[in-house]
Amino acid sequence: MITVEQLYEKLKPIRVGSPLCEFTLEHCQKIHPVIARIEELKQKENAIILAHNYVAPEILYGVADHTGDSYGLAKIARDSDAEVIVFPAVRFMAETAKILNPHKTVIDPNPDGGCSLADGISAIDVRRLRKQFPDHTFVCYINTTAEVKALCDVCVTSSNVYHIVETIDNDNIYFLPDKLMAMNVIQYLQDRGIKKNISWYDGTCYVHEEYGPDAIDFIRTGNPNVDVLVHPECQPAVVEKADYVGSTTSMLNHVRESSGDTFFLLTECGLTGILQSEFPEKRFVGSCTMCKYMKANSLQDVLQALENPRPDQIIELSPEVRQNALRCVERMFEYAEKTSS
Ligand code: 13P
Ligand code: SF4
Repeated sequence: MITVEQLYEKLKPIRVGSPLCEFTLEHCQKIHPVIARIEELKQKENAIILAHNYVAPEILYGVADHTGDSYGLAKIARDSDAEVIVFPAVRFMAETAKILNPHKTVIDPNPDGGCSLADGISAIDVRRLRKQFPDHTFVCYINTTAEVKALCDVCVTSSNVYHIVETIDNDNIYFLPDKLMAMNVIQYLQDRGIKKNISWYDGTCYVHEEYGPDAIDFIRTGNPNVDVLVHPECQPAVVEKADYVGSTTSMLNHVRESSGDTFFLLTECGLTGILQSEFPEKRFVGSCTMCKYMKANSLQDVLQALENPRPDQIIELSPEVRQNALRCVERMFEYAEKTSS
């Protein structure tokens, strides 16, 4: 278990301009008993905690067994032999862990943790679209409910979307629900001379759609050597100006491997916080924004959910939805593992 001093060392470099992220030694002393109790319960229940890169730093550094992007965490959930998986993130991530682990208890400490993408499309919408586009392969972003995944052909994440769409053996693709990601994929394929007919749904991430190309111009004026990293949920005009585009974990790895010293990240604040903690010698300029859904998870929620989970915190899926959604998620693993080999 992490000590108060180790926790403070990890949290004190984090400066992302929110009261959530002003860490003092006193704060670490105050939260440490909660961390100790969570650790005790993890042992007792044979539980692991998987935390997305965007959740609060005291969860990431205090109690998480694994942190990462949606693809990395889905793989860890698939391969884990723990009996209980606690997933502080957003609902669709915990659902994906359940799709992969029907016999395990999967707990979502914050069951109201939606996502503007996942909440923007329903199974009814997909049924209607499948009738409208009968010869299309339906590709869904992992940011969708299990019911939506169950009606699609293959799932993708930000770490494999370009390669999977490129590899699919059908030129007619329906991509849902992120229209900005669909446009970025179209641009990627056009740049490589690949012709595919891609239709898309009209969803967006409410955090990433707000970033505009002007912010990059502004930051570059004062910091000519800045390395600009963006998530593929951003507008194409933002992606076009970026030095690097990738998932949250790929951006983290890019900074780790880069010899540069100044970075501007157009993504949720959680990632900037991790980078400030991991690389205190590097400079992170510009501002970031918070995802209210990811930030709704607290240490206290994690403790309560482990101690005595409420029915709405335990993920349950009907066998039919689970089996069909599993086919969709497994196809992602097949494509992703084939592309990366
Ligand atoms: P990653 O898979 O890149 O971590 O993205 C998840 C997400 O919700 C981004 O907004
Ligand atoms: Fe969903 Fe956007 Fe939050 Fe990611 S940042 S979980 S896409 S609302």
